[in-house]
Amino acid sequence: MKTVAMMGLGAMGSRMAERLLEAGYPLVVYNRTQSKANNLVEKGAMRAATPRQAAEQADIVFSMVTDDVASQAIWTHPETGGILGLNANKIVIESSTLTPSWIQQLQGKVQETEATFMDAPVAGSRPQAEQGILVFLVGGSEETVQEMTPILEVMGGAILPAGPTGSGSALKLAVNVLFGVQIAAFSEMLGLLERSGFARDIAIEMLGKTPVVSPALKGASGLIAADNFAPMFPIDLVEKDFRYAAQTAERLGTTAPVTEATRQAYQAAQEAGLGGLNIVGVAKLYQP
Ligand SMILES: NC(=O)c1ccc[n+]([C@@H]2O[C@H](COP(=O)([O-])OP(=O)(O)OC[C@H]3O[C@@H](n4cnc5c(N)ncnc54)[C@H](OP(=O)(O)O)[C@@H]3O)[C@@H](O)[C@H]2O)c1
Repeated sequence: MKTVAMMGLGAMGSRMAERLLEAGYPLVVYNRTQSKANNLVEKGAMRAATPRQAAEQADIVFSMVTDDVASQAIWTHPETGGILGLNANKIVIESSTLTPSWIQQLQGKVQETEATFMDAPVAGSRPQAEQGILVFLVGGSEETVQEMTPILEVMGGAILPAGPTGSGSALKLAVNVLFGVQIAAFSEMLGLLERSGFARDIAIEMLGKTPVVSPALKGASGLIAADNFAPMFPIDLVEKDFRYAAQTAERLGTTAPVTEATRQAYQAAQEAGLGGLNIVGVAKLYQP
């Protein structure tokens, strides 16, 4: 069995790593805050002190960190960066939600080492990571995607080949914007309905009976109805994805006014101290 490295053991990476261990893959783990690896090491994972060591010790190297800055830090640090541990026999799978522009730069750096690269961000949150039913949105050559499918299937219920490198990340930003726009608009209208005299649960129930509420929004509105704002996909990460989508639109010479406006709602939630809450926490902004 190939040795796999997971770099980034936050809410998502730790759960994905757990699945890999359970499937029997020899696993190397790296996290900036080393203590977060303890639990996995106790279960049999090997600890790497740096991303470079993780890449040196593994055949397939996953990364699952916050943003472009974190990805740059773990891959390109001049002494400890993961790039320094790569060679022609290795495969890099960047699963964080990042800008397509950084993904392209990272691909260039990986290719200089002759290693293979693909971006494979995920749709789904902590429960889906725990159950191994994430949806991987994959950018990479057909051959690499095929070769990596068995390992992605350990963590994912669906593997969607999106096209060449970077296309997984572009698709992922689109998915998150479409999700986040619905939740922000729903939250805003819920506040309006409550101020118009509707009880919150009745408004949610009635909207839910109409065809405009998508399956994803149905799930989210159920959390709002239950007053459940415990973090799964935190607002801080949602705002980052809207920022990245807006930046990508600008780089491609187009505008994204709905993305920009919705980003302001999530920024307002951050300013109100709600950044650590789940995405549906944006509803708190509009509650009477
Ligand atoms: N949560 C979700 O529902 C969800 C769903 C789909 C996709 N995603 C995406 O998946 C990625 C990870 O999300 P998450 O929820 O697992 O985030 P998280 O719990 O906040 O974990 C973030 C990870 O990134 C590391 N990190 C942050 N900045 C770093 C830096 N400068 N250098 C090195 N490591 C750094 C953290 O290390 P420390 O432990 O040392 O801080 C931690 O391991 C993000 O791109 C997110 O957008 C999240």
